[in-house]
Amino acid sequence: MVLNSQENAYDKSKRSHYHQPDDFLISIRTAGIEPDVATAIRCAEEYVKAGCDYLQVSTGIEWDDPTVDAEGKPYNQFCALGIRFHEHFGGRVPVSCVNGIYEPSLARYLIENGLVDTVDLGKAVLADPAFCEAVLNDAPFVRCFGCPQCQYGPGMPHKCPAETKRNARK
Ligand SMILES: Cc1cc2nc3c(=O)[nH]c(=O)nc-3n(C[C@H](O)[C@H](O)[C@H](O)COP(=O)(O)O)c2cc1C
Ligand code: SF4
Repeated sequence: MVLNSQENAYDKSKRSHYHQPDDFLISIRTAGIEPDVATAIRCAEEYVKAGCDYLQVSTGIEWDDPTVDAEGKPYNQFCALGIRFHEHFGGRVPVSCVNGIYEPSLARYLIENGLVDTVDLGKAVLADPAFCEAVLNDAPFVRCFGCPQCQYGPGMPHKCPAETKRNARK
């Protein structure tokens, strides 16, 4: 282990935590609510203190927080957790949100409005890797069908209807 003394390009601070010799970023997928957002943020504070460079905010197991609200927003409650973390950690470590980002316009909305630093994409890119090109350049893409159980899950046959649709277009 060596001391990472590189300048952090995000907040320009000098990092002072330990990394492996070939230095790399350490990101942690952290609970956004457990059982409430304030407790989840306190847990994430410990990760950041320990040297985490980048927070990816997901859900938690217990939800007991009436302050989480995405009513009338284009994103869902899971993304709302990432946004809350970004409000707290913004400028210190980059924060990413996840869940339900299936339209390129939503990915752009979250970034362009400064709600988070990055977005994590799951099923959108499993359904069609061209989703990223659609975000950047409005390229055509096949939307995730939102299957009750994603076909790429463990033990599943990987028969993704979006992939079938893409192949049919070739
Ligand atoms: C096939 C599949 C496998 C996943 N595996 C993991 C995993 O190993 N660890 C994890 O934290 N989340 C995992 N997830 C959850 C995703 O990271 C993501 O949180 C979830 O799919 C919601 O985002 P989405 O709506 O963009 O798909 C998985 C999701 C899918 C569909
Ligand atoms: S299997 Fe269904 S839920 Fe999973 S990526 Fe394909 S279309 Fe989306």
